[in-house]
Amino acid sequence: MEKNRSSFSGKLGFVLAAAGSAVGLGNIWRFPYLAAKYGGGIFLLVYLILAVTFGFTLMIGEVAIGRKTGLSAIGAFKKLNSKFTFIGYLAALVPIIILPYYSVIGGWVFKYLVSFLSGQAAAAAQDGYFESFIGQTGQPILWQSIFILGTAVVVFLGVEKGIEKVSKVLMPLLVLLTVGIAIYSITLPGATEGLIYYLKPNFSHFSITTVVAAMGQLFYSMSLAMGIMITYGSYMKRGVSLEKAVSQIEIFDTGIAIFAGMMIVPAVFVFSGGDASAVNAGPGLMFITLPKVFGSMPLGLVVGILFFVLVLFAALTSSISLMETIVSIVCDRLHWKRRFATVLVTLFTLALALPSSLGFGLWSGIKILGMSFLDFFDFASNSLLMPIVAFFTCIFIGYVIKPKTITDEIKLNSPFRREKLFVLMIKYIAPICLIIILISSILNALGIIVI
Ligand code: PHE
Repeated sequence: MEKNRSSFSGKLGFVLAAAGSAVGLGNIWRFPYLAAKYGGGIFLLVYLILAVTFGFTLMIGEVAIGRKTGLSAIGAFKKLNSKFTFIGYLAALVPIIILPYYSVIGGWVFKYLVSFLSGQAAAAAQDGYFESFIGQTGQPILWQSIFILGTAVVVFLGVEKGIEKVSKVLMPLLVLLTVGIAIYSITLPGATEGLIYYLKPNFSHFSITTVVAAMGQLFYSMSLAMGIMITYGSYMKRGVSLEKAVSQIEIFDTGIAIFAGMMIVPAVFVFSGGDASAVNAGPGLMFITLPKVFGSMPLGLVVGILFFVLVLFAALTSSISLMETIVSIVCDRLHWKRRFATVLVTLFTLALALPSSLGFGLWSGIKILGMSFLDFFDFASNSLLMPIVAFFTCIFIGYVIKPKTITDEIKLNSPFRREKLFVLMIKYIAPICLIIILISSILNALGIIVI
């Protein structure tokens, strides 16, 4: 069976596809406002340190598991030690939960892009536009369905012809757009102050919550603990240096996040007359604040269009990785043909996306633990399942199969320079960090502390 497994053609294909998964809404919308909230430069510094230690360890561990076993999450854990197959099942659950609601947001982005293209940018900047759009029944469902179908076409075409090809076109464009808009944004009159606010370390904002917030963001941003990196690792050829490939994905992901901040923070600053709290608009930043910002800047229509193209690309490559992971798991477990599996997973996703969408309109009266469907799915996957899966993965590598199994795989074709760091992190530091993330996000959800 393994002989027939699809693969990326080489390192570039793998790196761009994995970076495509990692770079998503989290980089463009969430990172900038977290950085602005948690002390600017100090948040960036903490984030960078965590990326090369904590993030690196978790990512290389997952990719190596995938490449070693040549299987997606469930099969991979089973093959390494069948008593721990449950970690694979838990990991598989995460993309199944995330993909439907991620597609709802992807649909919103698509709708905004089309609004900007069709001359309705001014309407999109009106108060109440966003709420009234997501509160409808047919429209959001239409857009999310288009988004899901777009994702499905790429997955249907396969690893090399679909995912790799699309990533090789979209990812370089994404870099160009991000850097281009960032340069435009920081050259707006009055933007320097915003840039300084974003980059200058503000130590008075530093606290333990800065570290926890950075850790949580990093973890989500790098698409860890949901079997994605295991699946993509399983498509990797043996000749590629794992350490270099993982470092490049991290540089890509972190670089785009930092540039996204330069694109958004100074522009919002100029728009709000230096009011830092405007950046901190949370989820509304992208759909409520930014259209207003575009409306107020010179060339705003063009910038707005380019911005939503960029976000759409970022969201698409991430949703492709989610769907691919589900399809790959289904194929490995049930031995279905990839195309058949893709069609079924697509139908399933279309159906599962309905409650997340209707939760803002028709079904807004239904709440789970006080949350809308979308928020609840987001909470269950990101705040609960992901830290749990990552914690078990560390324990599994550190104490069950032992780090040597992974480091041997990494050293197959190149020296492993950060081996000591890897072992120390995976056995001791990362599991502790993950428990802290888990506890803090539960407390946060219960409203006990607000991060
Ligand atoms: N890594 C993506 C981001 O930064 C988020 C994501 C999570 C993508 C889960 C795919 C799956 O937005």
